[in-house]
Amino acid sequence: MIAVMGASDVDRLLSEQAAYYRAVAPEYEQHALPFDVGDELAAALDAFRPTGSVLELACGPGIWTGQLLRHAADVTAVDASPEMLAIASARTGSERVRFVEANIFEWRPDRRYDVVFFGFWLSHVPLERFAPFWSLVADCLEPGGRVFFVDDAHRAPDELIEGESSSTVLRRLNDGSAHRAIKVPHRVDELQERLTGVGWRVEVRATTTGPFYWGAGSPVPLDE
Ligand SMILES: C[S@@+](CC[C@H](N)C(=O)[O-])C[C@H]1O[C@@H](n2cnc3c(N)ncnc32)[C@H](O)[C@@H]1O
Repeated sequence: MIAVMGASDVDRLLSEQAAYYRAVAPEYEQHALPFDVGDELAAALDAFRPTGSVLELACGPGIWTGQLLRHAADVTAVDASPEMLAIASARTGSERVRFVEANIFEWRPDRRYDVVFFGFWLSHVPLERFAPFWSLVADCLEPGGRVFFVDDAHRAPDELIEGESSSTVLRRLNDGSAHRAIKVPHRVDELQERLTGVGWRVEVRATTTGPFYWGAGSPVPLDE
């Protein structure tokens, strides 16, 4: 059970987390998890077929953006870090991608999308912001729109500076500097139930190896 935080603690941690990702951007891919998931997550995304106009939240260095472009007509990729967006833009090099620098917890969409995707982002959304975050995702979707996400529940023992029951973790850059961030270790059954509780019908599946999971679904229509 993850402990609840006060609103000002959540705000402070979200700022620290955003600052951490700005600082880690040049070395982000050196901090990959020590688990081999093969192409299971990528295969699940391909099977989902993210067609039409796709919104990618927290795109980071664009690792998933290229895969989205295999199916999507266009992608709007949002991230708070200009450093991450610069890497993503160089990597993607496509006129079909619009990059937007914004704080997801303040940003509002200027249009609606067929699909919303986020990779390794949901676990960084504090539980205190879970319901408003999913309400934002619903507001980003066209009627009949779909969501797909991939993530992991891994937390190394030395990251848990406030113990197992806290979602606050400590991350270190290669230079040893320490930054607080949020990592919610969602369990697939609990997450699926939590999503049902905020008006979504999402199938959440664990991968066959490693601490990874993915989810696919849609908001429950208002007339159901
Ligand atoms: C774990 S990385 C995931 C990046 C990418 N989706 C991937 O799978 O590699 C989290 C990303 O969230 C971004 N981020 C952190 N806080 C944010 C916020 N408040 N609003 C928008 N993006 C944020 C970071 O800049 C970082 O790029």
